Amino acid sequence: MSTLPETARASAAAAPIRVSATPSTAATADVPVEAEEIAFDIRNFSMWYGQRQALQDITIRIAARKVTAIIGPSGCGKSTFLRALNRMHDLTPGTRLEGSLKHFGRDLYGPGIDATAVRRRVGMVFQKSNPFPTMSIAENVLVGLRLNGVRDRSVLQERLEQSLRMAALWDEVKDLLNRPGTSLSGGQQQRLCIARSLAVQPDTLLMDEPCSALDPIATAKIEELIQTLREKYTVVIVTHNMQQAARASDRTAFFYMGRLIEFGDTRKIFTNPGNPQTEAYVSGRFG
Ligand SMILES: Nc1ncnc2c1ncn2[C@@H]1O[C@H](COP(=O)(O)OP(=O)(O)O)[C@@H](O)[C@H]1O
Ligand SMILES: [Mg+2]
Repeated sequence: MSTLPETARASAAAAPIRVSATPSTAATADVPVEAEEIAFDIRNFSMWYGQRQALQDITIRIAARKVTAIIGPSGCGKSTFLRALNRMHDLTPGTRLEGSLKHFGRDLYGPGIDATAVRRRVGMVFQKSNPFPTMSIAENVLVGLRLNGVRDRSVLQERLEQSLRMAALWDEVKDLLNRPGTSLSGGQQQRLCIARSLAVQPDTLLMDEPCSALDPIATAKIEELIQTLREKYTVVIVTHNMQQAARASDRTAFFYMGRLIEFGDTRKIFTNPGNPQTEAYVSGRFG
């Protein structure tokens, strides 16, 4: 698609994108972006569960190696949107999509694109941590690699330590690697699931309310971890916790009733939103 529909142009204009030290050269969709790589380039994306439309005409560009928060009231389509980013809907019968969704320039739903390969590059962490109950801590981290046929012990050992370190869990579990994954605390289990996602070396990590079952201390640890992940990974996080979005993200997208209402720098969305619905939501007047 070389020319952009008006809707896309309008929303690109409404979403100020910081471009290094020269904010006046804010990117438009027609100008190649030099300073900022785009992880997801999504245009006029709609999605249905059977007859029911859950996402309407979403156009958004999500920057690489930044944290993007998705906020909005329950049922507005946050999880639906997130799941579209790694083709999880393929597993749900009766879903239908329209529009285009590119990940680092490649059409995620294009012909010949293997959904399993997409899910390796785009990892997912869920609300409820879900370590495999019969597996040890180490096996939980390595299960994806083993499924991919990696057998080399030194590679597995190295990846185990690297993934647990990235997930800020290594120091806590390095002497317990053969204990069941489920023997860990809730917060540790969630970091274990993050380590499991990282072990297959994705470039993008999706998180759907990863802290909603955690206490404030475990939540703080995950938020701290998200800050370090951003150096290497693109992170998209759904949260219903507005303080969390404000603290942990660079950009925020506000969804309402299946539509993207506003997208921009997190600071701006929380302090000076351009849309009255965003304002009402971030100031706690509904949701
Ligand atoms: N598997 C499904 N089948 C049918 N409808 C669904 C399914 N998952 C979600 N929905 C509907 O899609 C809409 C968006 O849901 P969801 O993306 O889960 O919202 P959120 O994550 O923002 O709470 C809701 O109306 C919900 O009922
Ligand atoms: Mg949800």
